[in-house]
Amino acid sequence: MDFVKLELDGPIAVITIDRPKALNALNRQVLTELSQAIAQVAANTALRALIVTGGGEKAFVAGADIAEMANFTHAEALTFGELGHSVLDSLEALTIPVIAAVNGFALGGGSELALACDFIYASEKAKFGLPEVTLAVIPGFGGTQRLTRLVGRARAKEMIFTGDMIDAVKAKDIGLALEVLPAAELMAHCKKIATTIAKRGPLAVAQAKHVIDGGAALQLKDGNSIERDAFARLFGTADQKEGMTAFLGKRAAEFKNA
Ligand code: CAA
Repeated sequence: MDFVKLELDGPIAVITIDRPKALNALNRQVLTELSQAIAQVAANTALRALIVTGGGEKAFVAGADIAEMANFTHAEALTFGELGHSVLDSLEALTIPVIAAVNGFALGGGSELALACDFIYASEKAKFGLPEVTLAVIPGFGGTQRLTRLVGRARAKEMIFTGDMIDAVKAKDIGLALEVLPAAELMAHCKKIATTIAKRGPLAVAQAKHVIDGGAALQLKDGNSIERDAFARLFGTADQKEGMTAFLGKRAAEFKNA
């Protein structure tokens, strides 16, 4: 892969979009490589968390590649939008938690990539935006939907209608980023959170993610119903017996993902 790096650090995977000369802009090749990296993560049952970040000093991802899109026909735009959606859907569908380490510009498709992760930590240098209307288009990789669900309609509309960037502090203020870290501490912080998650019961973490995401579009009683079923199902796992036995025996649990 030329523009996407996948590195493994024990149970934690790191995907880096690494095309710094174009501020990590997403063209078809980058999206295809990202899709391959996500498939490798999905197939690796030893992994417990994934961090997604951008290569170089300036950008997380500065958007879809404007040079590639500039002369798109309607049909080409549709195919490109489908590719972007399917890659971000596959990222969102990973059973392990996915953390966005937003280290610089996260614009357009870059914000949309971060929004397809479970949560976002931002460096002080991060800038978020959906500037598509400045190009006379709209967000095309899920930004109108995922941003709205996360920060609410009015905040999403303000960002999308103006196309203006917001800094990391404002992103935290509106609930887009969870924390703002000094640039040099961003990856260490994300790895610390990923390492904590990696120590927990993996099937339980996966079920928690499944139920939170699956319940978001449901009525409360239906969401509670899938929670109740998942809760009960976990009592059929060896890890549940190990977790509770270890607690009662005052020792650390050793989970087997089973
Ligand atoms: N696509 C293609 N190339 C891009 C790019 C993008 N989204 N963003 C930056 N680049 C390229 C620049 O063209 C430039 O290339 P050259 O050196 O060959 O000229 C290089 O990256 C460095 O960028 P700048 O010189 O512009 O750097 P800067 O520090 O002056 O500005 C910036 C940084 C504010 C992020 C600016 O690059 C910028 O505004 N980029 C575009 C952001 C944008 O509009 N993103 C949304 C794209 S549309 C989209 O994403 C649709 C969707 O929802 C799917």
